[in-house]
Amino acid sequence: MKEYHIGDRVIRVEVGDITRQSVDAIVNAANRTLLGGGGVDGAIHRAAGPELLEECRTLGGCETGEAKITKGYRLPARYVIHTVGPVWRGGTAREPELLRACYENSLRLAEERGIESIAFPAISTGAYGYPKEEAARIASDAVIGFLKQARSVHTVVFVLFSEPDYRLYVRVLDERVV
Ligand code: APR
Repeated sequence: MKEYHIGDRVIRVEVGDITRQSVDAIVNAANRTLLGGGGVDGAIHRAAGPELLEECRTLGGCETGEAKITKGYRLPARYVIHTVGPVWRGGTAREPELLRACYENSLRLAEERGIESIAFPAISTGAYGYPKEEAARIASDAVIGFLKQARSVHTVVFVLFSEPDYRLYVRVLDERVV
């Protein structure tokens, strides 16, 4: 685990299972139906229990780059912020802009609820095939930029699912945060 300080705000990077994070909100890498799936989406729905899907059914889906919020139910986290990352199509279909929007819109939604701590998985880098290094740079830049003017959010956790992904985020953040 490694921590970076942006003023009085904190970015923490660690390896783990995001469903076990005791933060105010965890972010789900969902699909546009918001009706569950595999990967982190599947893990979050399994850990949260069936009420999560029931609430998701009322949301009417979610566009790529957008974010919607639900309760966390049986998760330690109070909220789940569902966002839909872009499918990687070679980088000429606004993927960078849409991926950045996932982070910014999730953080904006967290601020609206007065959320103080939020954990992100590596959105779009699994089934959606986004190149991991480019995605880590987009995630880091979006979060660092947001924390410089955040009001309620003071801790952002990047939860990686493997050591190599963790080391990549540490390298990318070491480059950005002195
Ligand atoms: N905790 C943290 N990270 C996890 C976990 C977990 N429990 N499970 C998987 N991950 C990591 C993966 O290793 C990957 O780095 O989350 C990242 C995102 O991978 P996916 O879950 O495949 O998400 P994504 O690439 O955004 O694809 C979304 O997959 O599960 C479906 O319904 C989802 O259709 C949507 C698509």
